[in-house]
Amino acid sequence: MENFKVRNTIEEDFVDIADLGEKCSPMAIERNSIYHIFTKYFKSTSFVAELGSGEIVGFLLGFISQENPEEAYMHLLCVDPKIRNMGIGRALVDQFFEAASLKGCKKVYLITKPINWKSISFYRNLGFEEDKSGNTINIMGTTAIKNYNGLGEHMVVFFKPTK
Ligand SMILES: CC(C)(COP(=O)(O)OP(=O)(O)OC[C@H]1O[C@@H](n2cnc3c(N)ncnc32)[C@H](O)[C@@H]1OP(=O)(O)O)[C@@H](O)C(=O)NCCC(=O)NCCS
Repeated sequence: MENFKVRNTIEEDFVDIADLGEKCSPMAIERNSIYHIFTKYFKSTSFVAELGSGEIVGFLLGFISQENPEEAYMHLLCVDPKIRNMGIGRALVDQFFEAASLKGCKKVYLITKPINWKSISFYRNLGFEEDKSGNTINIMGTTAIKNYNGLGEHMVVFFKPTK
């Protein structure tokens, strides 16, 4: 496999990120303005994986909570389907943890859809735990938070300490 490097986003990356985001079902597709906000205003906690050719083959967009600076949140993570299972997802998550930890964060959160069993396996494999507090519902062996994103939109909330 060709080597890749993980780097912080630059503002212009949002165009390539938006294109790649189209290939990341069942992850949600955002409006371009959302990708742009991350690459511009959250670049120290947003990353791309880039091949030697300059092609962007993965991204992780995240931020530090303003309400609780000890918590960080990974909003979107995607690796190009043609190059999955080669460690790019893990490398992006590792880089996010390093950045969050340097900024004093103690815990990282994310949410995923209960039907996205591939991402659920991926995050469990990386040591994330499901949040089982509050109003939960069991969906195919996974604990989700009931109506997390509105009526009927149950979501799995994962967390992991930074150390
Ligand atoms: C989830 C996703 C980011 C994983 O990226 P990836 O580059 O293929 O993952 P990696 O190669 O870094 O895998 C890291 C580890 O997870 C494991 N893993 C990856 N995909 C897995 C799967 N579908 N089931 C079980 N384990 C999996 C790998 O075996 C690897 O384990 P190891 O390091 O112990 O060998 C990628 O599949 C993706 O983009 N999915 C679509 C978008 C999405 O659902 N994003 C997450 C929701 S926000």
